[in-house]
Amino acid sequence: MNKWDISTPTFESDQINEKLKVAPWEGHRWFAYDYINFIEPNTIVELGTHYGCSFFSFCQAVKDFNLNTNLIAVDTWAGDEQAGYYDEEVYRTVKSTVSAYFSHLNIDLKRMTFDNALSEVNESTVDLIHIDGLHTYEAVKHDFETWLPKLSKDGVIFFHDVFSPLEYGSNVFWSEIKQRYSYLEFKHSWGLGILFPKGDKVYNLLLDQNIEDKINLYTYKALYSFEQIKTNDLSFMVEERDKIINDNTRMIAERDEAIKNNEIMISERDETIRSNETMISERDEIIEKNESMIYERDVALGATEKLVKERDRLIRNMEKMIEERDQLCNQYQNEIQNLRANIMDLYKRIELLETKVNYYESKKIIFNFRNKAD
Ligand SMILES: C[S@@+](CC[C@H](N)C(=O)[O-])C[C@H]1O[C@@H](n2cnc3c(N)ncnc32)[C@H](O)[C@@H]1O
Repeated sequence: MNKWDISTPTFESDQINEKLKVAPWEGHRWFAYDYINFIEPNTIVELGTHYGCSFFSFCQAVKDFNLNTNLIAVDTWAGDEQAGYYDEEVYRTVKSTVSAYFSHLNIDLKRMTFDNALSEVNESTVDLIHIDGLHTYEAVKHDFETWLPKLSKDGVIFFHDVFSPLEYGSNVFWSEIKQRYSYLEFKHSWGLGILFPKGDKVYNLLLDQNIEDKINLYTYKALYSFEQIKTNDLSFMVEERDKIINDNTRMIAERDEAIKNNEIMISERDETIRSNETMISERDEIIEKNESMIYERDVALGATEKLVKERDRLIRNMEKMIEERDQLCNQYQNEIQNLRANIMDLYKRIELLETKVNYYESKKIIFNFRNKAD
């Protein structure tokens, strides 16, 4: 076993999951890290891992101090009535964290109930059990009693939520169980109980290291770090607020500029509207004039139409007269033709009569001649 060192670790898991920095267990990570360096456990079992704030602080110590430790995390990774029921993202994040930073460690993520995991862990083999599942009195008592046989000689059990502000049953169980065994405890960060139910060897070694003073130191460090996180959060919030104020000031200035531009545009638009109104009134005047011209033209057209109708009526009359005249002409032409035929006929008769007259004339001459001759 080592001398107790106070380290200043970097928890790599936070790079994947920033939530770990503010998880309820965060205030115990430095202690747990140094505790693991101190006892160099062969096997650690955690009952209740969730995102792994506590578990990855154990892993970080095993990695940084090159320990040959079996790290077993048991969780259904489905949540419970106190942690809340959650989805696959939690387990995915835990697996990604293992792959990213702790893939070479002996890590066993047992996705099952604590009871089901019992058969997978040998009796008296676990040097550190961390009980952080459901925090009802019955659940913690059950987890303690069922897993106690797995604890090695001089093994240690961590209980989280033993000074829970929510007054979980785990507070009551801790106040009872610590009467029976040696223990150490932290009251900050929801409380961490450290129980030595399989012998006081480690407890005494810790006392040799002035662990009580160190507990104060870790407590103040955790509280200071928590205050620092709060201060950082506040500074961040102030910075954010200043940024928002600056952004808003800039936006107001831009808005004022835009308003000014808009006012110029509005006055130009008013000017345009005014000149458009003048044009519209001039156009209205022209339209009015055009309308009266159209009216006059319509009147003239009406009169013209009347004249055209009258003319058409006259034309029709004339056409009728022409037709009647043509009929008369035809009739006269027929009559003329008939008369011509009659005249021709009469000419022929006259010719015949003349022929006859000539004949008789010649006969008369001959007769007269004969008579004279006689
Ligand atoms: C308070 S959280 C664990 C917190 C974790 N140790 C940390 O450092 O953030 C409790 C977890 O225990 C798990 N859990 C509760 N009861 C369980 C049971 N009987 N079997 C398996 N997992 C359980 C829940 O799924 C939940 O993820």
